[in-house]
Amino acid sequence: MADILVVVGSTYGNASLIADDCVDQLNRLGHRATLLNEPTYEQVTQNPDVILICTATIGQGEIPANLQPLYDQLRARMPDFSAVRFGLIALGDSSYESFAEGGKQMNELMYDLGAKAVGQALFIDSCETPDAEEAAAEWIEIWSEKL
Ligand SMILES: Cc1cc2nc3c(=O)[nH]c(=O)nc-3n(C[C@H](O)[C@H](O)[C@H](O)COP(=O)(O)O)c2cc1C
Repeated sequence: MADILVVVGSTYGNASLIADDCVDQLNRLGHRATLLNEPTYEQVTQNPDVILICTATIGQGEIPANLQPLYDQLRARMPDFSAVRFGLIALGDSSYESFAEGGKQMNELMYDLGAKAVGQALFIDSCETPDAEEAAAEWIEIWSEKL
């Protein structure tokens, strides 16, 4: 059983909806998951065990506005995340030039902070995946067993 902070980056609600489902599913599977729709530096640096980032990309390869302040603060302050495990669900659309770049930036940041990746990140391309919620649910099932 793990304590999991689910950190959302969403503009139009897709990533938020998926993150919400992930929280329900993780809790059903016996974990303690908390949804952070407006994640703050203080929330994610209080001895987190596991962080699951669920973010879309906006603009031209940018992190959604609700997540950008956290990204900027973590980059500026570089807390030690060597005791933190993390997972990533990145939503995007491959018809854009910078596919899922927001998720990729968050992934790189977590590595730079020393966090350890649990399993492979999930990239959901809306051009190829008609049912993003189903894809995320299947991934969570497998990912949660590795915690
Ligand atoms: C204005 C706009 C810009 C976008 N830019 C990108 C992009 O640069 N790269 C990408 O992979 N997806 C991009 N997308 C696709 C979104 O990431 C995708 O639709 C996602 O599901 C939206 O999630 P959200 O509802 O949580 O914001 C863009 C979508 C919109 C509407």
